[in-house]
This record gives sequence, C-alpha cells and structure tokens, in this order.
Amino acid sequence: MTSDDHRTHESHTGAATATVNDYDSIAEAYSSGNETSLVNAYYERPAMLALAGDVAGRRILDAGCGSGPLFAALRERGATVSGFDASAGMLELARRRLGEDADLRVADLGSPLPYPDDSFDDVVASLVFHYLEDWGPALSEVRRVLKPGGRLIMSVDHPFAVHGSEYLAGNKTDYFATYDRIEEWTMGGETAQLRFWNRPLHAMTDAFTAAGFRITVISEPDADPAGRDLFPDFKERFLCFLFFVLQADQRSGVLGA
Ligand SMILES: C[S@@+](CC[C@H](N)C(=O)[O-])C[C@H]1O[C@@H](n2cnc3c(N)ncnc32)[C@H](O)[C@@H]1O
Repeated sequence: MTSDDHRTHESHTGAATATVNDYDSIAEAYSSGNETSLVNAYYERPAMLALAGDVAGRRILDAGCGSGPLFAALRERGATVSGFDASAGMLELARRRLGEDADLRVADLGSPLPYPDDSFDDVVASLVFHYLEDWGPALSEVRRVLKPGGRLIMSVDHPFAVHGSEYLAGNKTDYFATYDRIEEWTMGGETAQLRFWNRPLHAMTDAFTAAGFRITVISEPDADPAGRDLFPDFKERFLCFLFFVLQADQRSGVLGA
C-alpha cells in the first residue's frame, strides 16, 4: 500500500452502494501491495507453502488465484498448477506473471467450476472463502474436482481477530452469528467495496464436515522471521488469518455417491 491507500470499515448491514468484491479497479495496486506486504508476502504465502509441503508432481488448483503469486511459487516447486478468479483484471496480471500458456480461467467460487471430477491432488484457496456467505456450494465443488483423499489448503480471516477488532472498534457484533461487513479499500487512487462474511469457528468446521472433509491441520502460524526484521512494528506474534488443511473423504458413505 502507498501512503494514499487506505481501508475503511463501512457497515455491518450489507448496504453496499456499488458492485461489491470487484477487484478489477484495484487489481494493479492490490497486486503490487500483496508482493511485499507483511501479511501476504511474509505471513500468509509462506504459511500456505509450508502447509502444502513437497508439491513436486502434484496437480494443484489455485482458487481465487488473484494475480498468481501462490500459483507461481507452487509451479516453481514442481507442481502443475491451474488457477481461477472472479476478477478478469486480476487474471490479466496473473497472465503477465505466469505466461500465455498458464491455465487461468474466470470462474466463481460457489458456482459450478469448469473442471472435471477428480482433477486435482490439492486445491489451495488463499483469502477467498471469507467473501462467501454460504460455504456449502463452494466446498462441494472443491470436493468434486479433488481426487478422493486430496487436500484443500485454505486461509481466511481469523474469526477471533475479526471479533476482537470489532469489539475494539465499539461494534457489538455477535461472535456466534454469520454476518457481513463492508470495507471500502482505496488503492492506487481507485476505490472498491468489499463484502466480507464473518462466521464463528464452529460454523467453519461444521461446513467442512458437512461437505465431506476431514480437518487434518488447524494452523495459527508465526510470520516469516525475514518479515519481522523488515517491519519493526510487528515484533510480536500476531493473530490475523486462520489456516486449514482438509482432506477429502472417499465419496462413498458421506454423500451416498
Ligand atoms: C485477497 S485477494 C487474494 C488473491 C490471491 N489468492 C493471493 O493470496 O494473492 C482475493 C481474491 O479472491 C477473488 N475472489 C473474491 N471472490 C471470489 C469468488 N467468489 N470466486 C472467485 N474469486 C473470488 C478476488 O477477485 C481476489 O482476486
């Protein structure tokens, strides 16, 4: 972010005044901030890569891939990667980074995905599920495109961190409810309204179980030490995102398929 960039907490009512979650207008500025920011470059991305482990030879789908930094890192480690995002603007940047041959598609997490059943060993989903009100359809599509036993590795806003910020801001939100909040992000002179859906931890784990996933890891990692040196304000360990590794059950039994 530059000194002109800022994020404003607008409301809890869902009363957005323009198209929400349109990353096109802020694609360039968001992407360049994401390259170097503490929370993305030195916290979220290293944590996702650590959870993924050795990915050489694996087929991976990057859901909500944005401009493709995680896609690129997984490909460098020997995975065969595909990616999709709702924003054509973000995908244009991804194509610039990843090349014309990269398998990138415009698609909506929560709607039917343009991939056959059992296509991927892993699906990674960095910071995208918290834009969805209902996780059911998205999880069921992810499970469909995963091979049986495949993994979903994901990060979302940590519900305790969200609840703590709301509390400190004087908002009497109900931790146990699923509710939206609108943020206005101004970046590179452009403004976008983003609608985030907060939900308690148990609603997340219930959604995983209902969709046929088993939780193998819940992670609250520390930042990469290199980032802690570069950002002196963040010497202390902090709570920001929550990470899960989930394993897709065999299909028989859970959905009766
Ligand atoms: C915070 S950015 C993260 C981008 C990328 N995963 C990363 O970590 O660099 C969120 C991304 O999710 C995308 N997105 C939001 N809602 C989506 C949806 N329903 N389906 C697909 N992509 C979505 C946005 O367009 C944006 O590129």
